[in-house]
Amino acid sequence: MDHGSTQVNNHANQANLEASGIANMNLGQGEGVYISTYGCQMNVNDSERMLALLEMVNFVPVENPEQASLIIINSCSVREKPVHKVHSEVGRYRELKEKNPRLRIGVAGCVAQQEKQKLLKDVPVLDFVFGTDSIDQLPDIISRTYASKEKVVAARFENEKPYSVETLIRRPGVASFVNIMKGCDNFCTFCVVPFTRGRERSRNLQELINDIRSLIKRGTKEVTLLGQNVNSYRSDCGADFAKLLQTLAEDTDIQRIRYTTSHPKDFNQELVDISQKYRSKICDYIHLPAQSGNTEMLARMNRGYTREEYLDKVRMIRAGIPGVVLSTDIIVGFPGETEEQFADTVSLCEKVRYDNIYSFKYSPRPFTKAARFADQISEVEKQRRLQVLIDVQREISFDLAKEYDGIEIEVLLEATTDTEGQLQGRTTQNKLVFLQAPESLIGATVAANVVKAYPSVLRAELVSVVGQQSPGSLQ
Ligand code: 5AD
Ligand code: SF4
Repeated sequence: MDHGSTQVNNHANQANLEASGIANMNLGQGEGVYISTYGCQMNVNDSERMLALLEMVNFVPVENPEQASLIIINSCSVREKPVHKVHSEVGRYRELKEKNPRLRIGVAGCVAQQEKQKLLKDVPVLDFVFGTDSIDQLPDIISRTYASKEKVVAARFENEKPYSVETLIRRPGVASFVNIMKGCDNFCTFCVVPFTRGRERSRNLQELINDIRSLIKRGTKEVTLLGQNVNSYRSDCGADFAKLLQTLAEDTDIQRIRYTTSHPKDFNQELVDISQKYRSKICDYIHLPAQSGNTEMLARMNRGYTREEYLDKVRMIRAGIPGVVLSTDIIVGFPGETEEQFADTVSLCEKVRYDNIYSFKYSPRPFTKAARFADQISEVEKQRRLQVLIDVQREISFDLAKEYDGIEIEVLLEATTDTEGQLQGRTTQNKLVFLQAPESLIGATVAANVVKAYPSVLRAELVSVVGQQSPGSLQ
């Protein structure tokens, strides 16, 4: 993440802040703010929003907690020991607080949402806790903690208000992320998200299009639409996710569109058709979390599809979008999972041949149904199953990588790398590519030859420039 200090170019948000009197505050007095971020892309986006808001009130983002007068831990509680992680990170800051009486420390994100005031009680060194729906209150929360050393909790869900947030990014990259909806109503029995992110709510279509247009003006070429379940997107004007993709492809100059995460039960033929129709813009990469390859497990997980229905979706997608690349999430050792049921998951992965699998050991989460299931699997067995799956996938990923050796690919160049003269970018199939090219080509789409293909990265040689970036558009 970029921690440079630039002015936020977002007049509407500035106007909102001015209306609330916050923009005139000199809360930060030019001192440092440090945010550490755990978890998913949604959290990364939320942290960027916090930094943008805090810059408006004169905090300066810093790379190191020692330089900060404000530290925020943006936590994640989707898997394993999240509260423990917060405790241990805060522990490291205790001494800093003794040295710097102005230092304020807070927790944001899903752990904050889940624990609320309990976190303040358990970790006395904390000054404030705020939830996933309270980010825009941050300047006010900070102002209160500085004014009176009062401890602040802001963790209410705003389920009644429309979900209207203009994207706040200090320096949009070639590839930017935009929230299109939040929350989740699916209540998979293992998942804490419906409890930490609240009910599903979508942004208005026109607001989104305008938002993305302004990112394009600031240099963005590729947008990733974010939501816990993007296929459930529904604007208050009635537009669904397919309509959003179509409008973006037709009515804006965006060059590439990605989205995550899709729910298999909601992935339909219409979406495949739209992806095919706007193939030049909608990327050939779909993350389609299966979670398990066994129908009974899927029912216990409340996933809303069977193994066969999932495989039908994969066939439908592959028939409609030839060359599309798939990835998935898998949970091993869900309560009650037998050896045979786990074998079904392995066979699903062998059958689909995903480019990439994100596999996790089941971990009981507060409030969730599965945490109360009696037949929990031992840690040793979960670890064993995880390793089996990782080994199976490693072979598949190596095999699939071979298909890239020597072929020509198209790459959108995104950024420099640590290696002198080397840039990085991605193919439409979301493959990370490294190649030698001048920095002036950042933002351009180039043709390149793959020199060496690894499972997670391609090394390539520049052939020619296919689409040039508009000069000077990047800030
Ligand atoms: N245990 C293990 N993995 C989980 N995930 C979500 N909840 C849990 C849990 N309780 C995984 C799912 C989901 C991904 C984001 O995290 O695979 O798709
Ligand atoms: Fe969690 Fe299921 Fe919602 Fe995904 S769809 S966020 S796994 S409840």
